[in-house]
Amino acid sequence: MCEIAADDVVGSVMSMFSSAIAASGGVIERYRNFLPVSETTPIISLNEGSTPLIPAPRLSSIVGRDCRVYLKFEGLNPTGSFKDRGMTVAVSKAVERGAHLVVCASTGNTSASAAAYAARAGVQCAVLLPSGKIAMGKLAQAFIYGAVVIALEGNFDRCLALIRELSTEPGIAIVNSINHDRLEGQKTAAFEIVDALGEAPDLHILPVGNAGNTAAYWKGYAEYLHSGHSTRLPRMLGFQAANAAPIYYDRIIEQPDTVASAIRIGNPASWKMAKAAFNASGGAIDIVSDEEILSAQRWLASNEGLFVEPASAASVAGLLKCCSERDCAGCPVRKLPDGSTVVCTLTGNGLKDVAAVMSDNPQPVFASSDKAEILSILKKSR
Ligand code: F0G
Repeated sequence: MCEIAADDVVGSVMSMFSSAIAASGGVIERYRNFLPVSETTPIISLNEGSTPLIPAPRLSSIVGRDCRVYLKFEGLNPTGSFKDRGMTVAVSKAVERGAHLVVCASTGNTSASAAAYAARAGVQCAVLLPSGKIAMGKLAQAFIYGAVVIALEGNFDRCLALIRELSTEPGIAIVNSINHDRLEGQKTAAFEIVDALGEAPDLHILPVGNAGNTAAYWKGYAEYLHSGHSTRLPRMLGFQAANAAPIYYDRIIEQPDTVASAIRIGNPASWKMAKAAFNASGGAIDIVSDEEILSAQRWLASNEGLFVEPASAASVAGLLKCCSERDCAGCPVRKLPDGSTVVCTLTGNGLKDVAAVMSDNPQPVFASSDKAEILSILKKSR
């Protein structure tokens, strides 16, 4: 009997699929010319990207002045967040360089993504997380994908400081956004938006934590402008959680605190790059309270049909706040000409973090299996 090693089987099945992947295309296949890959780079992909740019009619009518608001729903990436765009590039490059272990610090989504792409690549993954501060869904992802999960006493900033120390070890690849391969991949979201709209939007709004995504979008928009795909750059408007807002207050926050655990960060790695993007684009960095974040999360679900995690709702919370305030003269939303296009990035899927939704202890209406009773319940709830 001829014995076939498991690795051989995996290898031949993977090569069977590689042509299918190329056909539908992850971000490396689709934007290869803009990314730091060569013909010999092994492509570790889960067909990330190609997320929908969803028109938001109710949000558009709140903004008014014939503006059109679109929601870039990054929660539909393979692990449920925008991190997959950067991770495909970072893990592909790590494998190309011969890494046997990928490591990251994370508030949850980076670790889920790193663990998935490491599993795909067949390399080990270790994630450093602030103990007790990670949404359950994200923790479950890190475990099921097979990562070594290390919980630290201390916040995300402490985890990242340790990761920086590990970067000198041979064979270890850091896949946090301090690794520029991550930002390269993440900038493809800006490409997709321009490809879909035929032009850059007037205003781009996003939540800000470690600030890598802001830097990545700005790079993407700039590269598409220079390559002739668009004729302008958007204003960039970022929102931090009020008690985790180092860029807004221009100082390190030692004990950042917010219900939006993904952006509970007091000393962002891409601080300078993000600030440069806000300034150069004529945009701004602002804050939203936890109440505004949770209310925007509920509003988005019940008005636009999109369930996002709390951090992701910060962009929409910010837009709603800007529309309700009258006395903010410098606000990029006020400066929008009539008929402008606005894009809000929704960074992660709501299913990852259901704690806030369930904290009010919502209960189903109990009923017997009786049609009349069901109809009476429906009548009362109208
Ligand atoms: N939204 C979500 C859902 C996130 O997970 C993050 C960051 C952000 C927004 C902020 O993006 O850091 O580029 O400014 N999450 C990181 C993590 C820190 O570890 O998963 P950023």
